[in-house]
Amino acid sequence: MSSRPRLAVVAAARPNFMKVAPVMQALKAWIDLDLIHTGQHYDRAMSSAFFEELDLFEPDVNLGVGSGSHAVQTAGVMVALEKRLTEVPVDALLVVGDVNSTLASALTAAKMGIPVAHVEAGLRSRDWSMPEEINRVLTDRLSTWLFTPSSDADANLVAEGIPLGQIHLVGNVMIDTLLAHLPRARRRAEALQASLGLEADYALLTLHRPSNVDDRSTLSEMMEAISQVSKRLPVVFPMHPRTETRMRELDIRLPDRVLRAEPFGYTDFLALMQQARLVLTDSGGIQEETSVLGVPCVTLRDSTERPITCTLGTNIVAGTRAEDIVAASLVAIDKSWEPADIPLWDGRASERVAAVLVDSLLGANQQLKEMKMAGEVV
Ligand code: UD1
Repeated sequence: MSSRPRLAVVAAARPNFMKVAPVMQALKAWIDLDLIHTGQHYDRAMSSAFFEELDLFEPDVNLGVGSGSHAVQTAGVMVALEKRLTEVPVDALLVVGDVNSTLASALTAAKMGIPVAHVEAGLRSRDWSMPEEINRVLTDRLSTWLFTPSSDADANLVAEGIPLGQIHLVGNVMIDTLLAHLPRARRRAEALQASLGLEADYALLTLHRPSNVDDRSTLSEMMEAISQVSKRLPVVFPMHPRTETRMRELDIRLPDRVLRAEPFGYTDFLALMQQARLVLTDSGGIQEETSVLGVPCVTLRDSTERPITCTLGTNIVAGTRAEDIVAASLVAIDKSWEPADIPLWDGRASERVAAVLVDSLLGANQQLKEMKMAGEVV
């Protein structure tokens, strides 16, 4: 038996994998890791393709929870994870982001007396109609270590009464992955554009939030906006499975100059994003990625939990009315943008997470000192 501490790391859905990968790389020399895939996402394009591309460890277990209502999905993760953590005990559990599996895992561990680390803590949209906002607030309340990407997140946590000693401003681990893969993505861009028959200037669209795609009038409004934008730029639209299903069920057609695609892998999506003239999205992470790339982003939501992407980055939160989206898009296309320089979004956030966890879990400063001497942390 290893005498090293053991940490369970939870990965569940597409936006988790690029956050978990660099954190695991930074921790593996010091801590034994048990990678638990909850199975919230399960299609190859939404899950295993990312494991291969990101050189992510094979999950030690897949809980196979799959899709379902919020209660079904959350409860499914809790029941299966409790069993796993009983069979394979750990010293702590790490979760990332704000999906249902994040909260379910934090709640399960906290009730079992297992301390929780939350990477991407403190983000707040203040929109309680978003399931992710509920997941964020509750996960943070249950966590022992709160790793934040930016100082606005620290301020949110302090305002909610989280003790300062639990808050660690580390930067953005997803940007660690982006910076590591950017050279490969740039090399890939030209061939990919050619294979899609894309012109030099194009817009890239992603859309998957239930609030945008489940309701006929909102989805129609989105398509009206995209139709207008596509008169200026052709639009590439890799479609999330939820959106594809809703478009079919609601019998909503794509505007003419919109190129529908299957979901892309990580490098291909990054290749298209870094070269796009404009990105339109309702994703959270894409607001951050476009900011670092200096590509304008029009966010198809009424709020953002990532305000730093508006103040320091390239993000415009446009809302969900067609005329507002079109107006924001035209402003974004015509303005010139620079890559954002956001403090600690420097490719080394995962090392900072590792430094704190190694220090805490080994219960001594010795390993941290060794890491610092080896230049592995800053
Ligand atoms: C989840 C997250 C959301 C994140 C998004 C990224 C929650 C509450 N939401 O939403 O924050 O932005 O992931 O994708 O956790 N489906 C497939 N194959 C899959 C996964 C899903 O076909 O591999 C389809 C199913 O029809 C399913 C639907 O997509 O019913 C919704 O999937 P679900 O995991 O419930 O939520 P997402 O919309 O993916």
